[in-house]
Amino acid sequence: MPSIQLRTSVPGPNSKELMRRREAAVARGVYHATPIFAARAEGATLEDVDGNHFIDFAGGIGVINTGHRAPRIVAAIREQVDAFLHTCFSVAPYEKYIAAAERMNAITPGNFAKKTLFVNSGAEAVENAVKIARFYTRRPAIICFEDAFHGRTMLTMSLTSKTHPYKAGFEPFAADVYRIPYAYCFRCSYSLQYPSCEMFCARHLEDTFKRVIDAESVAAVVVEPILGEGGFVTPPREFFQIIQDICRRHKILFVTDEIQTGFGRTGAMFASERYGVVPDILVSAKSIGGGLPLAAVTGRAEIMDAPQVGGLGGTFGGNPVACAAAVAAIETIEREGLCARAEKIGRRFEARATDWRNRFPLVGDVRGLGAMRAIEFVRSPETREPAREETDQITRYCCQRGLIVLSTGTYGNVVRLLVPLVVTDEQLEEGLDVLGSALASVAESRLEAAPHEA
Ligand SMILES: Cc1ncc(COP(=O)(O)O)c(C=O)c1O
Repeated sequence: MPSIQLRTSVPGPNSKELMRRREAAVARGVYHATPIFAARAEGATLEDVDGNHFIDFAGGIGVINTGHRAPRIVAAIREQVDAFLHTCFSVAPYEKYIAAAERMNAITPGNFAKKTLFVNSGAEAVENAVKIARFYTRRPAIICFEDAFHGRTMLTMSLTSKTHPYKAGFEPFAADVYRIPYAYCFRCSYSLQYPSCEMFCARHLEDTFKRVIDAESVAAVVVEPILGEGGFVTPPREFFQIIQDICRRHKILFVTDEIQTGFGRTGAMFASERYGVVPDILVSAKSIGGGLPLAAVTGRAEIMDAPQVGGLGGTFGGNPVACAAAVAAIETIEREGLCARAEKIGRRFEARATDWRNRFPLVGDVRGLGAMRAIEFVRSPETREPAREETDQITRYCCQRGLIVLSTGTYGNVVRLLVPLVVTDEQLEEGLDVLGSALASVAESRLEAAPHEA
């Protein structure tokens, strides 16, 4: 039986009514990607308030790698809820925080002593990684990248690249943040070609130390192994190795933001492993809590221990229910072999997307690692003009036919796969069929609109 079952048109009447209430009660600045409201979710499926059943390729933006309501996680949450909800780790600490920290120290790359700090959100974790890096190195500057996304707080917004909607109007930004090009080979900032470029963009970091900011003032390079909100841009392997080597040479901390790439998504627990690099600090969030708000900063013990007692923490950071969920989420990924599953999902997506590339000139680039995959759409293969409107049409078409899928990218012209890794083969194919028919429909409507281009 197909997983997608639509009882009303999308959005249905109950979702429309909730949208009306939402618009009256909720701040406009909170984005909504779909017009539906959730009632229930299980595995890789979601039911809305009108009884429509969707396949979920978004996973709450990469939070549900272990599936909606993963049994181990729900059981761990229930057990903790029955014990206590909050004492504050700084007031009456508890074992679950320590157990979750021990697990994080064990599963992150690097065969050395590590320590972990828990906070509430990805942005808060990135902020804390920067605080710790500055304290440890006693240096002020941070280097980040074009097309990066690190959050919406003052410092992380300053590290974020995309101006609209994340930065415009929210100035002034934090000081001592310097931005360099990422290895976005499909749109190279230097108009070079890989591999003949010899990774000029990575090597150029040395030049930055001469022209922009001296290396002795730089505390950390903060980088996503694959750009999440920047369009699932997936650099060549050497990119991170070169940057890591330059960091080590100048005693700059190498910090990977694995908030979207983490917890099995790329076919390894963390994408840093796929690139063969070992960050000094690794930042994680999203799927760490199986759906509960939690984020972690994990790093070399001597770095993490640099700030004084009381310099780190917060009222809610490392909530016991969220920590119990994290221990169960990590166990679920390991016991259910979700890293291997991510690899299989990714191969299937790539096979389908490669076929689409051959059929639809709209498909400009297909990329990703494991189950972190994406298609970048262009209006013309020659000019590579971003096809933003067409991308919106594709995601809208999918939603109306029962597939929740998100766009991404600085130009909003990328469709990304963040499907729960517990998706069945049948659900994956069913979802990909909808995506394929969306591409066909949008490609056809473009031909009708401009027959002379055919
Ligand atoms: C790579 C990356 N860093 C940071 C963040 C911010 O996380 P949060 O929304 O939990 O603050 C995100 C969120 O999408 C992200 O993808």
